[in-house]
Amino acid sequence: MLIPVILSGGAGTRLWPVSRSAYPKPFMRMGDGETLLYKTLDRALAVADDGHVLTVTGRDYYFLTRDEYATHPRANLDRLPFLLEPAGRNTAPAILLAALHAHAHISADAVLLVLPADHLIRDLDAFAADVVRARALAQDGWLATFGIVPSHAETGFGYIRMADAIAGRDGRQIDAFVEKPRREVAEGYVASGDYVWNSGMFCFRADALIAAAQAACPDVLAAARACHDAATSHESPVEYAREAFLTQPDISIDYAVMERAARRAVVAAGFDWSDIGSWKAISDLEAESDEHGNRVRGHAILIESENCYIQSDKRMVAAVGVRDLVIVDTDDAVLVADRERAQQVKLVVDRLRADK
Ligand code: GDD
Ligand code: MG
Repeated sequence: MLIPVILSGGAGTRLWPVSRSAYPKPFMRMGDGETLLYKTLDRALAVADDGHVLTVTGRDYYFLTRDEYATHPRANLDRLPFLLEPAGRNTAPAILLAALHAHAHISADAVLLVLPADHLIRDLDAFAADVVRARALAQDGWLATFGIVPSHAETGFGYIRMADAIAGRDGRQIDAFVEKPRREVAEGYVASGDYVWNSGMFCFRADALIAAAQAACPDVLAAARACHDAATSHESPVEYAREAFLTQPDISIDYAVMERAARRAVVAAGFDWSDIGSWKAISDLEAESDEHGNRVRGHAILIESENCYIQSDKRMVAAVGVRDLVIVDTDDAVLVADRERAQQVKLVVDRLRADK
């Protein structure tokens, strides 16, 4: 039984002021009016066997998330169980808790498809076809990931060095898994042609992941198990005791398991994929540009300006004689940033937190 697991955590601070802890990235609305979270549920329902989709998210986002799910015409809320975290502890605890829950309470031979809630994939048919490939590998006990052919030497992603093809299956073994390399290293990887980006989406049998964690990171698994066992009820929404939850280390699944596991496989994605990480990524994706490379969502007047992204829901933004800027206007904050330095927007949030 294939169970998509939607991971929805993290504040997405590089997308301030629209994404913030009270209203994080998955709730951001794209140009077509749909949120990233809605799109993720849509993708999950496209491949779920019987409408069962597990969601792991922060306790504070439960109602917001359910309300968002309820707007989907094919969502049956009774089949959308939630695991609620009292705080963020990164992806290893989130995914291990999902595996323990699915294995014990949904189906002993559950195959999990881990879907981060902040990715954009447009071609759902190609996505579904690749899920079939990954699922076949997962059923054989492989820990499968989806690889994306790199378009540039991105340092914000993990890289996978591909090895031999797996006989009888549409996938390759993984030689090495390198999380977020330095730029020079990433450039070498891209030039070699032997590497793909790790999309952060995974497919594995719940019991295979648990066994791999037992070998690679027994302490992380033990902490997740203790937390799982301490839950007062396993009916949705499952709430974990704060103390047991916080005993888990803050570590990603990539570092804890994937880098060290034995049977890892990669499926080369035939679908378009983007991680909506920064305003630059949004502006590249979103609106049509005018003849000067400007993209506007909302209301703006641009005079002799080039290569800017402007987003404003209510007020009119006017720009004169500027270039390469991101300008985002919201009710209580305005961002003005150099397009090429969009990654540094997170420093604004660091400063705001420090000043609190
Ligand atoms: N529920 C829950 N709880 N979700 C979480 C938590 C948590 O504590 N931490 C992270 N997530 C969710 C995020 O919301 C996101 O959807 C996904 O898990 C991945 O976490 P990120 O924090 O965005 O990871 P990353 O971008 O640094 O790196 C991962 O994704 C890249 C591709 O986007 C890695 O897998 C990289 O190797 C990969 O290239
Ligand atoms: Mg990410």
